[in-house]
Amino acid sequence: MADDAGAGLRQSRLGQPTPRIDGRAKVTGEARYAFDEPVQNPAHAFLVTSTIARGHITGFRLQDAKAVPGVLDLLTYENVGDLAGPLPPPGGKGGKNTESLQSNRVWHSGQIIAVVVAETLEAAREAAEKVRVDYAEETPSAGFGSPGAEPLALDASQGGGGGGPQEGHDDPEVGDAEAALAKSAVTIDQRYSTPPQHHNPLELYTTTCEWRDGKLTVYEGTQFAHGLKTTLAEQIKADPADVRSISRFIGGAFGSRGGLTHRTAWIAIAARRLNRPVRLEATRQQGFSIVTFRAETQHRLRLGAGKDGKLQALAHEGWEATSRPSTYNVSGTATTARLYACPNVLTKVSVVKLDRQTPGFMRGPPETPYLFPLECALDELSYALGIDPVELRRINDARNEPIDGKPYTSRHLVECLDAAAAAFDWKRRDPRPASMHDGDWLVGLGCATAAYPANIGAASTRLILSPGPRALIQMAAEDIGTGAFTAIALTAADRLGLPIKAVGVEAGDSSLPAAGLAAGSTHAASTCNVVAKACELARQRLAAAAVADRDGPFAGADPAGLHLADGHLVGLEAAREPLQASLARLGGPLEIYAEYVPEGAAPDGVQKTYQGQMASARGSELKDQIRYSFGAQFVEVGVHRLTGEVRVRRATGAFAAGQIINPVTARSQLMGGMIWGISAALHEATEIDRRAARYTNGDLADYLVPVNADVPEIEVIILPEEDRRINELGIKGIGELGTTGMNAAVANAVFHATGVRIRDLPIRIEKLLHAPALRL
Ligand code: MOS
Repeated sequence: MADDAGAGLRQSRLGQPTPRIDGRAKVTGEARYAFDEPVQNPAHAFLVTSTIARGHITGFRLQDAKAVPGVLDLLTYENVGDLAGPLPPPGGKGGKNTESLQSNRVWHSGQIIAVVVAETLEAAREAAEKVRVDYAEETPSAGFGSPGAEPLALDASQGGGGGGPQEGHDDPEVGDAEAALAKSAVTIDQRYSTPPQHHNPLELYTTTCEWRDGKLTVYEGTQFAHGLKTTLAEQIKADPADVRSISRFIGGAFGSRGGLTHRTAWIAIAARRLNRPVRLEATRQQGFSIVTFRAETQHRLRLGAGKDGKLQALAHEGWEATSRPSTYNVSGTATTARLYACPNVLTKVSVVKLDRQTPGFMRGPPETPYLFPLECALDELSYALGIDPVELRRINDARNEPIDGKPYTSRHLVECLDAAAAAFDWKRRDPRPASMHDGDWLVGLGCATAAYPANIGAASTRLILSPGPRALIQMAAEDIGTGAFTAIALTAADRLGLPIKAVGVEAGDSSLPAAGLAAGSTHAASTCNVVAKACELARQRLAAAAVADRDGPFAGADPAGLHLADGHLVGLEAAREPLQASLARLGGPLEIYAEYVPEGAAPDGVQKTYQGQMASARGSELKDQIRYSFGAQFVEVGVHRLTGEVRVRRATGAFAAGQIINPVTARSQLMGGMIWGISAALHEATEIDRRAARYTNGDLADYLVPVNADVPEIEVIILPEEDRRINELGIKGIGELGTTGMNAAVANAVFHATGVRIRDLPIRIEKLLHAPALRL
């Protein structure tokens, strides 16, 4: 599937299945996660969180808490409130964020309102439970439809944040969708919803802060060490040069560690007040309110089509929950407006302000909730037209996106649909709802498109090539569990012609050259491309010295013709010499710095904070083209005729996402994404007590996530795809792609099994009990 001829002279190692370079460290416990970092004589912090969702604190009664033996300090807005500035909301232009400890205002249930520091965790926890708080409580708006929960239309002054267009809100539109809907032979007009969901990475949210000689070191799992450092420095009014963020390994993140949250500043301030390291390990329950979450969404989706199946109109209106002061939104209409060929498109996104914490990134922030209504509506349209759903997507495949007419840098959606359909044996599907059975199980087959933008962020790196030869890559990259460091090492090994064992990666530390946010499926593209650039600069230096050496084998040769392979510098003819010898010519280790800043990013793009970083991740490069990874996902469900229980029996995904650096970890990513999609469709939802605006299932006993028994056979097919336009290495990114189509694929399969269309996720037994097909 080459879009461009691009015959390389040498065999590339990119794309060779490679075990993780840090796999052994991770499974033996050698890998150091933030809370494992040894600090001297730490004090322990415990958070006190609000029991009301809206109102003011009128007073604290702290005597009992302070009397607990071992208590060292107790932070509230009264003694530390002015020591930290406002926390920016995730992703940039999203209005303001909620406050914590900065005033007596309570914005949401579970807000951090005090921090107890003690000699032991037990003493801190006991004292925290003895903190008494008096509140002036107001009636909160808990969710859509609550009193006081008014929708707010977004305008160009409000950027996205969750991965939508960053330069200001934009509702993509073309033609006249209303008129086209009125004239269409077949129309669909339905409402859909997705629930709030909460991150539950295995690693709890921890922060350890240590001050030494006026310099702060923060040990906290983060998707962006450099962003944590600069944003925290700004918040606590410190010089960024005096703040260091260390996050060597992360036990899961996927958005939850993408932006700085409230706790970090207070632990930093607690450590400064005590002049002693302070460690916080928040509880699993506190994790539901002290970091961001995936906000609930509602949608009205209208489609109009001709009898031939061609879309004539698409209207997608979305509503997203956000916090009272924020306009954070993900605006997945940026994708749904452009996914299929359609001459008339109308979109509109509004936020609904609630007395809840500010939402944020969660795997595929815009696409996961917004593809659900579109891909379900297409399935509904396929029934209305009597056209197979795979065929309907083929009929509406686009060469150019319909809004601005830009061509895709590459797009192999139809190839994905065909490959997945063949592997899944879609042919055996009888399209009539509730027509397929297996004993007491009604069997349904459904499919959907997966899509995610293929972006790149700013990044920099230092390459040190030393005798051995050995290469060391230094960059403040992060591994959120994806195998990022292995991809980086593979790229360097490939470009330098060295075995992967000869490449070291030093990362997860803001004192290293800044690398982009490990999010938005951009990290492989940003880190590997800049590593390749550093390697090319190294090759140029070695080649220039080699051709200038009159006694050497390359004297007078064209330096452009020299390359690195198998531990040698190799010329166009038979000339070659061990890399060791080429290095020796330079009289010491070779040190190269390289950086990459996408066009359209600010000049200091590599050094910028979270907000700026997201902007550059979705920078305006390739202005005349549009870039996406694609996939097709097929799911077979069984719905039990007597109980309504839904089980996913099989799932197949085929993906085309440009250059795959390491198929081993790529497959894990895509499989994990599909499992998360099954979870989102059938299990996950945070339930809210509507009177108190409080989460009622905020722990792993009650918040449902899939276990092994919920995860059937999952087949991942990666189609080769060469895209030379997207970036030098042709990397599109796969982190989020695997999740995006699954909600709809499962819902479409459930409809096929039962004849009942569930448009509100998650799909649980109680929503199916009325299905006629379920009765005996
Ligand atoms: Mo992500 S939601 O890009 O970590």
